[in-house]
Amino acid sequence: MSDISRRNFMKNAVVGAAAVTSLGLLAGCSPKQEEPAQANADTAMGDDTMSATANVLDPKTMPDAATASNFNVVEESATTVGTTLDNLKTAITGETGATTKYAAWAKVAEKAGYDHIARLFNCTSDAEKIHIELEYKLAQKLEPGYQKPEPPEVPEHTVDLNLIAGANGEIYETSDMYPSFIKVAQEEGNNEALQVFTRAKLAEAYHAERYLDAYNTIDTPTDDKYYLCPICGYIHKGENFTACPICLAPKSSFTEY
Ligand SMILES: [Fe+2]
Ligand SMILES: [Fe+2]
Repeated sequence: MSDISRRNFMKNAVVGAAAVTSLGLLAGCSPKQEEPAQANADTAMGDDTMSATANVLDPKTMPDAATASNFNVVEESATTVGTTLDNLKTAITGETGATTKYAAWAKVAEKAGYDHIARLFNCTSDAEKIHIELEYKLAQKLEPGYQKPEPPEVPEHTVDLNLIAGANGEIYETSDMYPSFIKVAQEEGNNEALQVFTRAKLAEAYHAERYLDAYNTIDTPTDDKYYLCPICGYIHKGENFTACPICLAPKSSFTEY
């Protein structure tokens, strides 16, 4: 598949819940979860509430046509690409490193008195566990008996450098590793892997954004909570949203940190 046709494929995949549902890519949550999200989004667009909810995240428009084009692989890819089974194992190893690091870095932040950053690291650590479970299920399907890798030793830096290291890892995953794996899953016609990799790819970009935001505001403590989507690992900062922009799970299903 050429880059352009692949991009168009992915654009179609992420624009509009209806189109997505038929492909089973992004809106693969249960209908129970989609309906309230849609209803909330409609409410948010009503005349009476428009002014009060102008900043509320509307899952009908995110990701939109513009953001849906960002599925290219960086030019100097650092990813070793194999079959989808190989790629699932590589992703699980990467996500295991990430979840382990973030849990350790949450403790570093807590000790240093950065409560809001500790909450973000714990939330993101749990987000990566969601990706691991989704990928593990598929890997086991392709290779019954496959076991998860052991967690690695974790280097600990200062809080600010942990945030930058976290952001770098997330940017690598969203711009290199997952787009590379998405391409193979498309070529193999493995739609389950395509959905899992695509949702993870989209969530990682938000993780990077949260880490950079925390880095830029490191000396400004905030009481804003972080909210984790239990379906895809998307993280939202603050109350101001109605549903997951990636999988449309409603805010009420999110876990607060
Ligand atoms: Fe992540
Ligand atoms: Fe989600």
